[in-house]
Amino acid sequence: MQKKILLAFAVTAAAFSGVFLAWLFNLHGTRGLLHVEMIGWAAVLLIAALGLLPMALWLIFYLRGKKSRLLKAAVIIIAAVAVAVPVFGFAYINGFPSPTPNTTAPRLILAGTGANGLPDVAVTFMSSKPTRAALSWGRDDITDTIDETEAVTDHIFILGDLAPGALYTYCVDGGTTYYFTTPNPQQPLRFAVSSDAHFSADDNRPDFTAQMLARIAAAANQYDYFFFLGDLVEFGFRPEEWQQAMAALPTASAAVPTAFAAGNHDCLFTGLNRYLAYCCPEGIDTGSGSRLWRRIDIGDIHFLVLDLEWSAETFTPPQQTWLEAELKSIPPQDWTVVLNHGFYYASGSSSRGWQWWDNRETIDLITPLFEKYDVDLVFSGHAHQMELLEQNGVAYVIAGAFGGIPDPEREYVSPASLWYASGQYGYVDVTLEAGKAVLTYTGPDGQVLHTAAIAR
Ligand SMILES: [Fe+2]
Ligand SMILES: [Fe+2]
Repeated sequence: MQKKILLAFAVTAAAFSGVFLAWLFNLHGTRGLLHVEMIGWAAVLLIAALGLLPMALWLIFYLRGKKSRLLKAAVIIIAAVAVAVPVFGFAYINGFPSPTPNTTAPRLILAGTGANGLPDVAVTFMSSKPTRAALSWGRDDITDTIDETEAVTDHIFILGDLAPGALYTYCVDGGTTYYFTTPNPQQPLRFAVSSDAHFSADDNRPDFTAQMLARIAAAANQYDYFFFLGDLVEFGFRPEEWQQAMAALPTASAAVPTAFAAGNHDCLFTGLNRYLAYCCPEGIDTGSGSRLWRRIDIGDIHFLVLDLEWSAETFTPPQQTWLEAELKSIPPQDWTVVLNHGFYYASGSSSRGWQWWDNRETIDLITPLFEKYDVDLVFSGHAHQMELLEQNGVAYVIAGAFGGIPDPEREYVSPASLWYASGQYGYVDVTLEAGKAVLTYTGPDGQVLHTAAIAR
């Protein structure tokens, strides 16, 4: 009888560990982690060992044939721990204990393409309780109001068919009035690109992030758009981290329409759904059938945002088919700009079993498409550094310096590297016109770190 009760403890422990690991393996944000980080496997092996240990001890208990109080106690205690770890892990990874429901200020996200060849702009925000909000907006002054038809917590209003070179005004429920402008076709398109803010990491620099957001927001700097390339938060499965990021981000994105790429930290374990809710909410027309990759057109300038999180593991066959079809459809004389989190060519160092430099997986799988279809510029983050590289006529820009702790000085120099800075926070200021792009690597205080002109 005693043996049967102990066996029940051991089987329960093994079942909890097994089910938890099976669930973990199936999450979008786990595969890349286990591919790149040895430490992920260490955690998996530890949980598996903990789940199997009570069974091994029970077998010893059974085979010895005589009572051992110590073995009995060990089976019960270790089984209890082996059940508690998956239960706690499951709750933590799903965001428990849950903080108060989220509320965010209005932000602008780039949406589908309107009648005038410019992207639509989505005004989005969250409320702690379901409400029916009203958005008032118009060119120059407020002229229209859009009322939601049902009470929701995740609000989205699409401002479509925007006119070029125009000032727009908007406010939610009669609150703060915000402004944004649309690109003026008589002037070069100007946008900011950065990545890797890592909100809520112990070692990030939110003060630098705030400084850069304020620079991007400043009307005098005339940024048309802001592209943020992932790792906005440290652990994307934790709701409080997104709240912290969303408390800071509207500084820029209430005034400058923003588009996001998913980072490995954003999508870690169950982070994917939180990333999508904040960075590409339902209702945004991405034109791709996916909320993880999309195309944004501004006249003859074409942005392709890809989902490349750790390495090439998220570059699925459907994404590859979509990318090739989009690249084929773009006239070769137009600007083609690719943006994503993971990098291709980069200098770097090795860390925990992975070489964080020229990534053969992404280079071999994806860069032949860039070269075949005349991609001009490729922006990435993931490496916490700033770098400019050139390979086979394609310029690669690393801009992973928006607040996450800088990577150590490179131990490997990519043969494609033209300029590199480590230990430096910053973003890249880009102007694009018919024949050339100017890249200005900019520090948090506006200091110019490096300038490069890329001919089209
Ligand atoms: Fe990062
Ligand atoms: Fe990353």
